[in-house]
Amino acid sequence: MIEDFAVKFGRYGGLFVPETLVAPLADLSYAYAQLKGSAQFQDELKALQKDFAGRPTSLYPAPNLSRRLGCQVYLKREDLMHGGAHKLNNTLGQALVAKRMGKSRLIAETGAGQHGVATAIVGAKLGFETQIYMGEVDIERQKMNVYRMELMGAEVIPVRSGSRTLKDAINEALRDWASSFEHTHYLLGTAAGAHPFPTMVRDFQSIIGQETKEQILATEGRLPDSIAACVGGGSNAMGIFAPFLEEEVKLIAVEAGGRGPGMSERMADNGASLGYGTDGILHGALTKILQDSYGQILESYSVAAGLDYP
Ligand SMILES: Cc1ncc(COP(=O)(O)O)c(C=O)c1O
Repeated sequence: MIEDFAVKFGRYGGLFVPETLVAPLADLSYAYAQLKGSAQFQDELKALQKDFAGRPTSLYPAPNLSRRLGCQVYLKREDLMHGGAHKLNNTLGQALVAKRMGKSRLIAETGAGQHGVATAIVGAKLGFETQIYMGEVDIERQKMNVYRMELMGAEVIPVRSGSRTLKDAINEALRDWASSFEHTHYLLGTAAGAHPFPTMVRDFQSIIGQETKEQILATEGRLPDSIAACVGGGSNAMGIFAPFLEEEVKLIAVEAGGRGPGMSERMADNGASLGYGTDGILHGALTKILQDSYGQILESYSVAAGLDYP
């Protein structure tokens, strides 16, 4: 049965979880596979994207940046969406799936707080009890987003384990889900975790790339030479890249790799998990991770909360 839904991307992805999480992941996988093909579900999602979230977002020809870099640069303005980030594309989609599955509670992890805000928004909109796990370090540096989550009726639960950032918040959310899945949906916010999360997140974020393709063809009459996106867990990058994977467009993923205060050069290198990581299992998927020789997860670093995912 597991082979039916443990989707991989080349050798990566898959489903490497404790027994307790196999049943909820299988349920979610089958529910999503059915809803993905449902015209009624897709229409409901499209209506919310347009009337509630404010799509399509603009493709802005940034004149100052273009002059400075000596080439035409466009910015896909996901910051103009309700909530201020691309995260709502995914939370709208997953919350609709959760609703159809009869769940009454949402839990989520957040780093920068933007995914927490986007989850709080859909929780309020669609009537879920909502709890957000957030590392203590992130709570401190992203206070404004904690306030916004609480304002929208979500409860923010501080995570004090490990590095007290994003990966620890995901650990806690998974722990919660293992005993609450009958009524709770774990709304994972990025292209990480066991199947079906990376697939769902890619699908719901692909609207970014689909719009970009239409918009650039309408303005320039051709596809761009390259597309660059930042990578924390990879959701905005996968979203804009997905519709261009078969095209002659250079796709550039930029990940954290900076040298923070008090960090050694080695630690700074460790900040880049895709560039410097090795194959291992984290949060239920086979992926490139920062790990020591015993397979223990090493901490990553970025000044940007939400990009420090190991
Ligand atoms: C505004 C914004 N951009 C990018 C990211 C990185 O996440 P992802 O790689 O899933 O797009 C985050 C994460 O919190 C974010 O808040």
